[in-house]
Parts: sequence; C-alpha cells; structure tokens
Amino acid sequence: MFDLIIRNGTVATAADVFEADIGIIDGRIAQIGRDLGPARREIDAAGKYVLPGGIDSHVHISQPSGAGITMADDFESGTRSALFGGNTTVMPFCLPEKGAPLREALADYHALAEGNCYTDVSFHIILNDPTPQLFGQDLPALIAKGYTSVKVFMTYDDLKISDGDILRTLDTARAHGGTVQVHCENEDAIKYLIERAEREGNITPFFHTQVRPIAAEREATHRALTLAEVSESPIVIVHVSNAEAIGEISASRARGVKVIGETCPQYLLLTAEDLRDMDWEGAKLVCSPPPRDKASQEACWRGIENGIFDLFSSDHCPFRYNDVSGKQAPKAKTSFRHIPNGIPGVELRMPILFSEGVLKGRIDLPRFVALTATNHARAFGLYPRKGTIAIGSDADITIWDPEAEYTVTHADLHDNADYTPYEGLRLKGRPETVVLRGKVMIERGALVGDRGDGHYQPATPHPAR
Ligand code: URP
Ligand code: ZN
Ligand code: ZN
Ligand code: ZN
Repeated sequence: MFDLIIRNGTVATAADVFEADIGIIDGRIAQIGRDLGPARREIDAAGKYVLPGGIDSHVHISQPSGAGITMADDFESGTRSALFGGNTTVMPFCLPEKGAPLREALADYHALAEGNCYTDVSFHIILNDPTPQLFGQDLPALIAKGYTSVKVFMTYDDLKISDGDILRTLDTARAHGGTVQVHCENEDAIKYLIERAEREGNITPFFHTQVRPIAAEREATHRALTLAEVSESPIVIVHVSNAEAIGEISASRARGVKVIGETCPQYLLLTAEDLRDMDWEGAKLVCSPPPRDKASQEACWRGIENGIFDLFSSDHCPFRYNDVSGKQAPKAKTSFRHIPNGIPGVELRMPILFSEGVLKGRIDLPRFVALTATNHARAFGLYPRKGTIAIGSDADITIWDPEAEYTVTHADLHDNADYTPYEGLRLKGRPETVVLRGKVMIERGALVGDRGDGHYQPATPHPAR
C-alpha cells in the first residue's frame, strides 16, 4: 500500500521526460511505473509536468545586514514564498558575527529555522574571518558534519578576505570535500568609483550600477578562477551577470579548471537603464552585481542554453522598499551606497525560467530541471536524496501546470517584502501542487502544509579531490 500516488503526469528529470505514476511510501519515492496501486491518497496529474521539487541554492534569510537594517524574510516567510514558487529545499547563508565561532553562528541559524520552515533547508557558511584555527580544525570539522559549502567575498569591506585566504579556503575545502563559492567584484575599483560618483553628486540608485562595472566583475572573476587553477581546486562563481565574466569561465574550463557557474533571474530580465528610469525607486533593483544591459542579458541566456551555467538561483535577498529597515535606510537618500543590496525573487525563479526559457524554446524540460534542482543537489552534496525523481529519493515533487497564464503582482506572492522587481511581467506556467518528503504542502495553489514541516538537511562532503 502506497501512502500517495501521483498518477498520469509527464515526469521530467535532468535526463528524461516520460509518462509515469509515482508511488510514495514513508516520504520516499518507492516506485515509478504504470498502474501502481493501491494508495491511501491519489493525485491526478494528467496534463501536468511532475518535476523534482526546486532547490534554490542561493537565498538570504534573516541574515544580519548592518545596524538598523533587517531582511524582509525570516525562515517562515522566506520558505513559504519558496514553496509557492515550486521549491522544496532552499540553501540560505549563515553569516557569523566577526570573532564569533562558526559553531555558534550555525546554532543561531538552526534555532531560527527549526519549527519555522515550509521547505527543507541546508546551510552555506559565509567565511569572513579566516584564521589558522578555522583552516586547521573548524572548517574540516564542519564539512564532515554536513556544512560542506562556504561563500567568500572579494567585495564589501566587512566581508572580503584576501587572495591568500581564498587560496587557503579553496585548499582546505578541496582536501575535505567542501565547495567554495566566490562573489567576484574588485572592491578597490568599486570604492574608487563610489567616492568619485559621490564627489560629482551622482547619488541616485542608478549610480550603484555605474560604480560596479562589468570590468570590476570580470577582473575579480579572472582572479578567483586563477586562484582555483593554481590551487587545483573546484570553484563556484555565483551571480554571473555578463559576457566578459562568462568568457573568463569558458577560458578557465578550457584550461581544465572545474568551475560551476551560476546566474539569476535579475540578469535575464533587468537592466541598469531600468534603475535610471525609476530614479529613487530604482532602490528596488539595487543588487550586486547590478543588472547590466540587453547584450549581457543575451549572453546570460546563451550561457544557460550552452551549459556555461549549471545553476540558476534566485539570490533572494529581500528588503522592504517602504521601510527604514530596508531600502529607505536612514542615509539612503544621501547616496546609493547606503541602500541595502539585494532583491526578492525566490518565488518567481522557476516560473521565470519556465516561461522565458522552456516555453520560448531556449531550453528543454530536462535542462530546466537540471538548472533548478538537480545541479544544485549535485553541487552541494544533497544528491541523490534531493534533486531528482528516482526510487529511494525523497518524495520532493512539484506538479507544474504548463498552461496557467498570469500577470506577476506582489499581492499574489508570499514573501514579506512589499514589492517585486517583476511587477507586471506576463508569465505562463506555474507550480500547482508541491509535495515535501511525501507530504502535500501546496494543493492546487493553496497552502495545506504546516510551518515546521521543513527540516534541516545536512550535506554530504564530496569525495576528497
Ligand atoms: O545584492 C545582493 N546580491 N545581495 C546579496 C548578497 C550577495 O552578494 O549575494
Ligand atoms: Zn554575492
Ligand atoms: Zn546572494
Ligand atoms: Zn525538526
């Protein structure tokens, strides 16, 4: 007797598309085939796609963001929004206070997450305080415990670490089966341009896009990839925004560097010109790297089509617009530099890629699944428990209605921001029913699961490389 059977759907994995029923027992996929039964409960998925639940490996939830600034989403609202967007797992970043042990920071995040999540969660660690103790003991121990991935920054004064420490991070992670993600922007170039812009009175949000130019991203991307090459370590380049950074990734790959590239919806749909047109309201689109131009959008699409990118993530980093704890931060009107960086997007990541990518013939369904689920699980040690539809995998399943047509409006979203950058966008296709480890969480668009149904999932270290 199955607990649940999903019948008559078109199942898609990263490798295949086929018609099948899926039988679920104890939260896992027990059988895939025809005429399965009986079951305590059945869902008819005729005319729908049956997909692995989305995994968004790049979201920011409840991350400390400076004095007086608060992220719009906590684990409840952030994972609720993710679930409505077809996701069953999200991977937020744990940012330790400087000087505080990583273990404590992780305990704080667990306390915030436990009992509050609608999706499963697994954590990345932001590594902002490199010490011999960290490389010698703490990081190897954390990787062994299931915290296998770290992010390092080449920008932001309070986060960035030196090239030498990036090398030490890459080396330690490689030796212990961890994964290193790098935010690539040249901090000194940006600082110089910020000071010049402010001197010239160029202080509106549009100038945020001008002080973080493509060249600053290209140089840092080149440098990060060089560090990966000399330390013979794999590397993940996150939120890639343009053709020049993409070119660096291809060139490194051709030299044998194992590099995973990630891009995000904002680099497909937004431009710097949008910020100019919106004047102060452009604060809604301030994120780093910033949106570029039409040619960059096309380059990112080509990277999605031709395999340069393995990961399509939201970089959901929500701040409320009409709020002094968000985009109206106390000094925000004196210079773009005081506007918190980041935009919401976890709920629209899959719908945007489906509508703009699959339905417009840019990618097929298996590639969509790879970019939104499977590759995230593989990159971050959750595969094959997560990220695929296979016997023995967690029954994390999104039943997708490919026909639904709608106009995006924030009122229909489930995050705790007060706007969406994609207001008014026409989309086709969306999640209809979402199943998390065998439990129906969203049923025909209505929330039926409980806060607390989502749980922490430790990642498995990669074989040492
Ligand atoms: O502006 C952004 N993307 N904020 C989030 C932090 C990051 O660098 O990913
Ligand atoms: Zn970043
Ligand atoms: Zn981010
Ligand atoms: Zn629990």
